[in-house]
Amino acid sequence: MTKNDYLSQITSVVNDTQFIMNRNTSPIRPLSDQAIIEVVLDTPYNQYPEDQEAKFKEAYADYNGFDAANVAVANGSDEWIQKLIIQFGKGGVLADAPDFFMYEDYSKQLGYAFHSIAANENYAFSASAIIHGLDQYKPSILFISNPHNPTGQQFSSLFLQNIADACQARDIIFVIDEAYVEFADTYDRPKNSNVVYIRTLSKIYGIAGLRVGIALAEGAVYDKLVEINHPYPMNSLSLNLASKLFEDRAKLDDWIDYQKDLQIQLAKAFHQVADLIDIVPSKTNFVFMYGDNVDAFVTFLTGRGYIGRTYETDGIVTAARFSIIDKKDYPQLTATIKEWRDQFNNERTANERNQY
Ligand SMILES: Cc1ncc(COP(=O)(O)O)c(C=O)c1O
Repeated sequence: MTKNDYLSQITSVVNDTQFIMNRNTSPIRPLSDQAIIEVVLDTPYNQYPEDQEAKFKEAYADYNGFDAANVAVANGSDEWIQKLIIQFGKGGVLADAPDFFMYEDYSKQLGYAFHSIAANENYAFSASAIIHGLDQYKPSILFISNPHNPTGQQFSSLFLQNIADACQARDIIFVIDEAYVEFADTYDRPKNSNVVYIRTLSKIYGIAGLRVGIALAEGAVYDKLVEINHPYPMNSLSLNLASKLFEDRAKLDDWIDYQKDLQIQLAKAFHQVADLIDIVPSKTNFVFMYGDNVDAFVTFLTGRGYIGRTYETDGIVTAARFSIIDKKDYPQLTATIKEWRDQFNNERTANERNQY
C-alpha cells in the first residue's frame, strides 16, 4: 500500500467552516475505519483489562528504544502531572513561565505552593535563573516542557543537564514534559535518577481523545510514582487502539512523516509575516508569535475561521499560538495570511503618504 492509499483510508471528522488550531492536536485520525472496527471487535471489554497494558508498553517501548520496565501509562500526561505533584509536590512546585498551565492548576488543586521563573521579553529562559529559583523557593519538584509549550522552542541538552544536576544536588524531582518531542531534534537527554520524562499519544500520534499518557522513570522514583496507580490504570479499548498504531511500522512511519510535513507547512505559512510579527522558531506542531501586530492578525484569522490560542496582557492580545491543520487546507491558510500581509502593507503605505 502506498502512503497516499493509506492516508486516503482515514476519514476526518472536521468542521469545514472552522479550523481548530488552539489544541495542538492532529487534524485527522491515524486509524482507518476498518482498523478501528477490528480493534473494537477484538477487545474483550466485558472483562477487566488484563494483558492489554503490557502489550501496549512493549510496543511503545520497542518503537521508542526504551525498556518497557521504565514505562508507565495513565489517562493522558495530564494524569501524570497530577500524580507527580501528589507524590513529589508537597514541598512546593516550580516551573518556568509561561509553560503548560496544568502544572499550576494541579498544584492549586492540591493546595501546594506554586512558583514560576519568568522568561525574558523575547521568551528566552535562563538556566541560571531557574537554578536560582530552586534555592529561592526550595520546591520539591520542577516542571519544564521540552520542546516548550507555548513558545515551541527546544532547550539545549546543556541547559537541561545543568538544571537536572542542580535538582539532583538539592534532592528535587525534575520533570521534563516531552509532549512534542517527536517533532523536535533528537538530543542528549539527562539521565539523572531524579529526572522523570512524560510523553503523550495526544500529539504526533493523533489520539488525544483516547487519553494515553506515558511516564518514564527509574528505580525508587518509578516505584513511588506508580504507588498510587489504580489497579487498571487505563481502559482496554484505548490501550488496544494505541497498540494498533505500532503494529505496522511502515504505516506509522508514514503517519509521523505526514505530521512532520504539516509542521513544516505551518511554519512556512506563518513565515510570510515574520517581518511584521515576532515568530519563535518552532520544534513542535504549533507556532508562537508575539508583538504589536498580533492582535490585528489574530482578529483577521479568527474572522476567517482559524481559531488559535491567544495570551492576553492587560486585556490586549500580545501573543498567540496556532497549531497544525490538514495538508489540504494549507493553500487557503497561506493565501489568507498573504491577504492580511498585503492589506497591512497597503494601510501602512497609505498612512505614510498621509504623513507627508
Ligand atoms: C506540554 C504539555 N504537556 C502535557 C499536555 C497534556 O497532554 P495529554 O493529552 O497527554 O494529557 C499538553 C497538552 O496540550 C501539553 O502541551
